[in-house]
Parts: sequence; C-alpha cells; structure tokens
Amino acid sequence: MSKSREIIAEAREVSKSYDGGRIVVLRDVSLAVRTGELVALWGASGSGKSTLLHLLGGLDAPDRGQLTVCGLNPVDEASRLSLRRHRLGFIFQLHNLIPDLTVEENLRVPALAVGAARAATAARIRELVTEVGMAHRLGHRIQDLSGGERQRTAICRALMNRPQLLLADEPTGSLDETTGSTVFALLKQLAERDGITVVLATHERRFAEACHRIVRVRDGRLEEIST
Ligand SMILES: Nc1ncnc2c1ncn2[C@@H]1O[C@H](COP(=O)(O)OP(=O)(O)OP(=O)(O)O)[C@@H](O)[C@H]1O
Ligand SMILES: [Mg+2]
Repeated sequence: MSKSREIIAEAREVSKSYDGGRIVVLRDVSLAVRTGELVALWGASGSGKSTLLHLLGGLDAPDRGQLTVCGLNPVDEASRLSLRRHRLGFIFQLHNLIPDLTVEENLRVPALAVGAARAATAARIRELVTEVGMAHRLGHRIQDLSGGERQRTAICRALMNRPQLLLADEPTGSLDETTGSTVFALLKQLAERDGITVVLATHERRFAEACHRIVRVRDGRLEEIST
C-alpha cells in the first residue's frame, strides 16, 4: 500500500479507561489509516478492539488524545453527526438491526436520516441487497433471518449513504466458517474494488492475515505486525 495516500482516520496518543480509571483499555495509542486500506485490529477478547472502533466512530470519547476521521473530530457533536450520516459506516458486533422491521425497512433508516429521495433510496437498497445476495429477503423481518443474512443486511445498512470509511466490529464473529468467509470477502471487495477504507476488528488470525495490515491490540497498546 502506497504511503503517499492520504490519512483518512487517525488516533494520536489516545487513552481510554472505564470505571473511573480502574479499567485501563487503551494507553496513549496512535494509529494512522490511509485511504483504500483494509486494516485488521487483531486481538484477544477484551483487548480493546471495540473501544478503539467506537472512539474512531464517535460513539465514545477518549480520556486524552486526538482523533481525526475524514478530516473531522468525532468528539465534536456537529462533526460527529456529519461523519455518521455521510462519511462513515459502522457495522456493530451485534449488528444492531431493528428485529421486527424488514430488511428493506432497516435499510431505509440511514436514508431517512439524510432526507434522501424515496426513489433514490429504493434504487440504492435494490443495488446493495443484490450485491450481497439478499434481494430475495427484502421483505423478511430481521428476526427471521440467519446470522449471516443479518450480518449482510448490517453491511448494506452501513453502506447506504456511500461512506468513505467502514468500521466493522467483528463482522464475522457470530458466523460459521463458510458464512464468515463470504462476509469477509465482501468487505475485502469493498476495499479493493470500490476504494472504501475498511478498519475491521477481529480475533481470527485467518481474516487478519488476509487484510493489508494487521495492528495487534494487546495490553492497552497497538503493535504493527507484518502480514
Ligand atoms: N462501558 C464500559 N464500561 C466498563 N468497562 C468497559 C466498557 N466498555 C468496555 N469495557 C471493558 O474494556 C475492555 C475492552 O473492551 P472491548 O469491548 O473494547 O474489547 P474487545 O477487544 O472488543 O473484545 P471482544 O473481542 O470480546 O469484542 C474490556 O475489559 C471491557 O470489559
Ligand atoms: Mg469487541
């Protein structure tokens, strides 16, 4: 990956603890992700992968340090809104879809948030579900879908507003080996074919090794590992 590409997401000496400092998760960590990269945050359960993604996505605030994501500061409220609506897609570890709404209704939510035209939204939904092989499930409720289908829906939702950056929190964590591979291949394709930057948290070595970079999360620190 060329070093000349611009940095799209950056953490500088960021620290985060919980419980009034009793649980220290990240200690002065720095990370720079460049446009078009597929970066794995790889580490054991509880190492801080979700915490770091939440900080980058403006879902939580650091105790110390600076964050810059798509040129904006996710800690600032107005910037955070703009990031979430237009620039950044987040795939949650537990997908966070609305269970009693259909696939189509779930996918309309991000479009409603930006006031997208109805026809354009319908076309975008159709395009995305076709891409992930979910067109036949559009009218099905999330609660009736398999784990892999839910995760593919969550990917579509994250992509609805054409983000530049995708933060994917263990998107294969709850899936069997084959389904996990399919979902991972989709994310890799987004990075390599569409130029979307993807930061992916995983504890699975095989997925980490298939990324462009592996950043190991351990003992509150980040360590670059060569792939
Ligand atoms: N809101 C919170 N309050 C207290 N502790 C928290 C909170 N969020 C996370 N933690 C703790 O911070 C540590 C890191 O959590 P985090 O969810 O970032 O880990 P992770 O690497 O994503 O783990 P997993 O692979 O299990 O998803 C854990 O010990 C967790 O219990
Ligand atoms: Mg996690």
